[in-house]
Amino acid sequence: MKKITIAEMAKYNGQTVKLGAWVSNKRSSGKIAFLQLRDGSGFVQAVVVKAEVGDELFATAKSLTQETSLYVTGEVKEDERSSFGYELAVTGIEVIHEAKDFPITPKEHGTEFLMDNRHLWLRSRKQHAIMKIRNEIIRATYEFFNDNGFVKVDPPILTGSAPEGTSELFATKYFDEDAYLSQSGQLYMEAAAMALGKVFSFGPTFRAEKSKTRRHLIEFWMIEPEMAFMEHAESLKVQEQYVAHLVQSVLKNCQLELERLERDTTKLEKIKAPFPRITYDDAIKWLNDNGFDDIKWGEDFGAPHETAIAESYEMPVFIINYPIGIKPFYMQPHPDRDDVVLCADMIAPEGYGEIIGGSERIYDYDLMKQRIQEHNLDESAYAWYLELSKYGAVPHSGFGLGLERTVAWISGAEHVRESIPFPRLLNRLYP
Ligand code: 4AD
Ligand code: MG
Repeated sequence: MKKITIAEMAKYNGQTVKLGAWVSNKRSSGKIAFLQLRDGSGFVQAVVVKAEVGDELFATAKSLTQETSLYVTGEVKEDERSSFGYELAVTGIEVIHEAKDFPITPKEHGTEFLMDNRHLWLRSRKQHAIMKIRNEIIRATYEFFNDNGFVKVDPPILTGSAPEGTSELFATKYFDEDAYLSQSGQLYMEAAAMALGKVFSFGPTFRAEKSKTRRHLIEFWMIEPEMAFMEHAESLKVQEQYVAHLVQSVLKNCQLELERLERDTTKLEKIKAPFPRITYDDAIKWLNDNGFDDIKWGEDFGAPHETAIAESYEMPVFIINYPIGIKPFYMQPHPDRDDVVLCADMIAPEGYGEIIGGSERIYDYDLMKQRIQEHNLDESAYAWYLELSKYGAVPHSGFGLGLERTVAWISGAEHVRESIPFPRLLNRLYP
């Protein structure tokens, strides 16, 4: 008998097959038992009919506890009532391991309890769906950048320099030297772009931010493309095409998962390039005109500001040209103004906040040196970076997309802690 996965069942309609699975839920009467099975590839209902399987097997089915592992055999049958489309008419059950008192039952549990049991919570239908969407976003990321001539480059995680400012670094020792866990691979990606043209990285980044919001993780994954001979306006086009590709890929390949999450897909279907652009100046004016008198030109947006701006659009929106004072040292000044830089944050719809930060980079040697000094950065740690603007410097731009915020938005998760398998949060390093 062929051993298959739930995801493969459609190819075996009418045949008797064997599955390795766990019991996620069960319902039974005196004559029939319905087992909700999961095997990682999907979820399916298995039906055990007493009159067909006999007393002994039926008794086994009725006694199965939640999360018991088993091999089950049965016939694959079409089932129009379920969105999966198939069910299994059981002919045999071989229990592998009986699970007793699985802590996460179908009833409601509090967030802290679920987070303490994250290693088990991952098995739930909802968490399974979010992880599958995360996987699709990762797949579509590689697809997009490979199809568009980018080379994947892996920047180091242990570093001696900080691209995004020094306040939120995780310090560690590198033998006798001071080192930091990477908060962004950008500076290394700039070096790589000068060698390979268009590059992207995809790796973990670390920020010792004391923020406890639904958008902040201490450890998160970032995709950082960097492009030589690329002006900022051109980079925005890459960004909107990339994000639209992510959304359209999830819509196409994760229909069951979106349905399980009860995601409103009409909102996602509208996400197509181009995305609107507004200047930081206009965003401040709009906020001040719409009841937000707590923010002045020169200040950074808080979550309520971003959410209010995003609510005016059905698309993600670019806020462009922020004041120089609230952005990192490496951003290229605006050609006609010295108070703003050529940068943009992409704000996701539906209150998910900033998902991309990007900019054109300075490539003038003297200006870069001056900016490093103005930011009181350790010049010796940035010496290699400064050399990039010494040997054949070119206009170049890049950006960073936060994976978990993007997964949270597309899947409709309430909080980024559900969009990464084992979140690192303020006050949480377990499990
Ligand atoms: O805006 P950020 O800080 O930009 C950079 O790090 C640039 N060096 C990227 C580049 O140009 N190569 O971070 C980029 C994105 C944010 O827009 C957000 O999506 C995500 O990373 N992000 C976080 N996600 C979860 N938790 C946090 N604490 C995050 N901080 C940033
Ligand atoms: Mg940012």
